Amino acid sequence: YVVDKGNHRHFMEKEIYEQPEVISHALSHYVDFADHTVKPADAAIDFKNLRGLAISACGTAYLAGLVGKYWFERYARLPVEIDVASEFRYREMPLSPDQAALFISQSGETADTLASLRYCKDSGLKIGAIVNVKESTIAREADAVFPILAGPEIGVASTKAFTCQLAVMASLAIAAGKARGLITPADENELVRHLAEMPRIMSKVLNLIQPQMESLSRELSRFKDVLYLGRGTSYPLALEGALKLKEISYIHAEGYAAGELKHGPIALIDENMPVIVIAPHDRFFDKTVSNMQEVAARGGKIIFITDEKGAASSKLETMATIVLPNVAEIIAPMVFSLPIQLLAYHTAVFMGTDVDQPRNLAKSVTVE
Ligand code: G6P
Repeated sequence: YVVDKGNHRHFMEKEIYEQPEVISHALSHYVDFADHTVKPADAAIDFKNLRGLAISACGTAYLAGLVGKYWFERYARLPVEIDVASEFRYREMPLSPDQAALFISQSGETADTLASLRYCKDSGLKIGAIVNVKESTIAREADAVFPILAGPEIGVASTKAFTCQLAVMASLAIAAGKARGLITPADENELVRHLAEMPRIMSKVLNLIQPQMESLSRELSRFKDVLYLGRGTSYPLALEGALKLKEISYIHAEGYAAGELKHGPIALIDENMPVIVIAPHDRFFDKTVSNMQEVAARGGKIIFITDEKGAASSKLETMATIVLPNVAEIIAPMVFSLPIQLLAYHTAVFMGTDVDQPRNLAKSVTVE
């Protein structure tokens, strides 16, 4: 693995464009592309007999875990308890050995995540580590290691590690559902076919949206505050979009569950705060569109990130509409990560910040 920027201006850009390739590599570790089946998860974690899962992580890895929660609950009917590691480690939550714990960490060295791991270990839980660095402390202390195989990530703002963490968790959630007798072979086949298509779709999307992301970023860089909204698995993506933008462009951004708009952030809506709405045409689409109408009715500027079906069925006026291809629900979080990453990246480039080494941030936080 050669760690240089290649033809890219920044490591972050290179890592964004590497995603189709590394995701394909990661997936091949967890699914059988010929049979369209998932490989059984590491036997150290007995998904079949688990009563629940605890997930803990920091930063972007935590937001990947939040997407994972939706999948483990939906596909494997496993109740998920999730928290940021700095809270998890001190909450004194009751845990029992019929639960397992998953820790997500690109570096495998984050101090709070490691402390959460040790807390769960002391409670007798089996430990799974979803890590990029296989030789890391978190990997060493786990019972089962689930590598994300993203290759070295240099940009402080995580991109390819995030989508690889998602791809691994999607595969694990299907494997868990299968072990628990909840996913039929036909469902498994269909889900794996969708995962297999993902690298090609991601390449297509990266090429498709690049020029629009660049010009839109120019406009976005004029604003001081940005709000991101999403529902379902798009809610963690809204949080990740806001995190990415603030980390590297230093523009204040917040992510909210679309349904929470009316409980607070709606008070802030005016022409000075663009609202980025992440809404694939899924089972939540109509609800999210009605939240968008509430924004439009108050003079808010909307940047609508949707798919072809979504774009065709909404008549609202927007500042920009980013139209992705229609994709299966299981892969939407990975595909919709791309415009979010590119928007943050180009905005930061336009603002002239140090994209790969943003001020005050570290790639790996090994102190509490
Ligand atoms: C730092 C990095 C983030 C990362 C987080 C967790 O804050 O700047 O990009 O998401 O740590 O790191 P980890 O290595 O545990 O995934």
